[in-house]
Amino acid sequence: MSTAPVARTDRAGDPTGVLSRGRDLHLNHYGAARLPFACVGGRGLELDMVDLSPAGRGRRLRLLDASGGYASATLGGDHPVVRAALTRSTAVGNVTDELGSWERAELLDRLFGPGGLWTDHFPTGRYHVSGRNSGSEGNELALRLVLESRFDGRRLRHRPGKVRRDTILAFQGAWHGWTGGLVQLLNRRYYRAGLPAPDTAGPYGVRVAHIPFGDPEALAEYFAASADRLLAVVVEPIQGDAGILLPPPGYLRELARRCAQEDVLLVADEVLTFAKTGDWFAMRDADGPVPTDITVIGKFLGMGAVSTSMVIARKDLAVRSSGAVTTSDLRPLNCAVIRDGIEHIGSEGLLRRSAEVGVHLAEYLDATLVGRHPDVFTEVRGTGAMLGVELTAAAADRIGELRRALIEAGVYAEFMAGAGKRSGGRRYVHPTLRIVLPLIATTTQADEIADRVATGARALR
Ligand SMILES: Cc1ncc(COP(=O)(O)O)c(C=O)c1O
Repeated sequence: MSTAPVARTDRAGDPTGVLSRGRDLHLNHYGAARLPFACVGGRGLELDMVDLSPAGRGRRLRLLDASGGYASATLGGDHPVVRAALTRSTAVGNVTDELGSWERAELLDRLFGPGGLWTDHFPTGRYHVSGRNSGSEGNELALRLVLESRFDGRRLRHRPGKVRRDTILAFQGAWHGWTGGLVQLLNRRYYRAGLPAPDTAGPYGVRVAHIPFGDPEALAEYFAASADRLLAVVVEPIQGDAGILLPPPGYLRELARRCAQEDVLLVADEVLTFAKTGDWFAMRDADGPVPTDITVIGKFLGMGAVSTSMVIARKDLAVRSSGAVTTSDLRPLNCAVIRDGIEHIGSEGLLRRSAEVGVHLAEYLDATLVGRHPDVFTEVRGTGAMLGVELTAAAADRIGELRRALIEAGVYAEFMAGAGKRSGGRRYVHPTLRIVLPLIATTTQADEIADRVATGARALR
C-alpha cells in the first residue's frame, strides 16, 4: 500500500479540498458512519484512494477492491474494451425509446436473435427486452408487468379469472431495491417501517407474503394453501443482502415447476447474480436453464461503466400503451458497452475462469479467515465471482471498526446486512462480508485480498 502524499498535479489543484466539499454535498445514505475516503483512480482491481479524515488528510492509499464496485465492476477499472466501446458509441445521433439504433439492434440480435448467445434461456421469439437505468428500476418494470398481467388495459378492468390473484410471494431476507414498489417485497421491518404498506383493500390491491428461502417444505406448504391467490413469485436465485445464501439443489427448478403448474408468474431478480456464478444466469442447474417468465439483470451488465439493467420478459407480458416509456431505454452508449463487454467475456472464457478462481478463493477464505479468525468469521458461502463470509455476533457489532482496519490493511470491502431473524426457528444470519471479484481477477489477486482481510481482522483482537 502506497502512503505518498497527494501530488500537486492531481485534478483541481487541491484535491482534498474539493473532495471533502463534494463529500459534504453528497447525500449521506449511511448515517454518521460514512468512510472518509475518496477514490481518485484505479485500474483492474486496484483503487487509488485519498484519505479525507482530519487525522490522515491527503494520505494516499492503494487498495484492492473486494467489493467489485458494489458488485458492478465486471472487468475491473479502466478496461480497454470498455473504454473503446464508450468512444465508439458516441457518434450515433439522438436515439429515443421508439427509434431503434444499430447498437440496440446488434446487441439484442446477438443475445436473443436466431442462434443468439442467450437463446437457451430465452428462446427466440418468446421473449422481449427493455432497458432501465438501474436494478431497482428493472425490478419496478418487472413488478409492473406482473400487475398488468391481471389487468385488461383496453377495457380498464381485471382480466377474466384474475380477480382473486392478488398475492405476490417473496422470500424472507430478500433485497430487490429501495424504490416504492419494491420496498413492499422486503420483509425486514427496518426497510419497511414508516413507508406506505401494500393496499389490500382497493379493487386492485396487492398482498405480499414471505416464506423462508430455500426450504422446499415451506414452498410446498405455501403453494398447497394459497396457490389460487398467487399472481407471481419474485426470487433472487442466490440471496445477496441476506448474506449470500444459496438454495439447495433442485429448489429453483421445483419453484419454476410449481409456478408453471399453477399459472403463477416467476420473476427472477438476477440483478446481482448475472455473470457471477460461472454462467450468465444463476437460474440454471445440471439439467440446464430454469425457465422464468421475467428475468431482470443489472450490475455486471453495465461493465462497471454504465448504470443499466435489462428486463427480459415473456412476449405476452406487456404494459398498457405508453405506460412504461422511458427516455433512456437501451441507449446506444449502454448497448455498445454491454455488447463489447459480453463479447470480450465470451472470447476470453472469463465466466469459466472466474468460477475456477472462486472455487480456489472459497477454500482459501475458509482456511485463512474462518480457520484462523473464528472470533470474527463463521462461514464461507457462495459460488463463482461472488462469495460471502459471515461474521460472528461479536464482530457484527464492530463492522465500522473492521472496515477501517481492512482499509488500513489495503482492501476495500462491503458487508451485507444478513437475513437476521427468520421464521420457523431457522438460525439467525449475521452481517456478511461480500467479496465480488471482477471476472479478470487472478488467483494471486484473490489470495492477496484474503490475506489482507485476515490482516485487518487481527485488529479486532
Ligand atoms: C438482488 C438485487 N436486486 C436489485 C438491486 C438494486 O439494484 P440497483 O442498486 O442497481 O438499483 C440490488 C442491488 O444491490 C440487488 O442486489
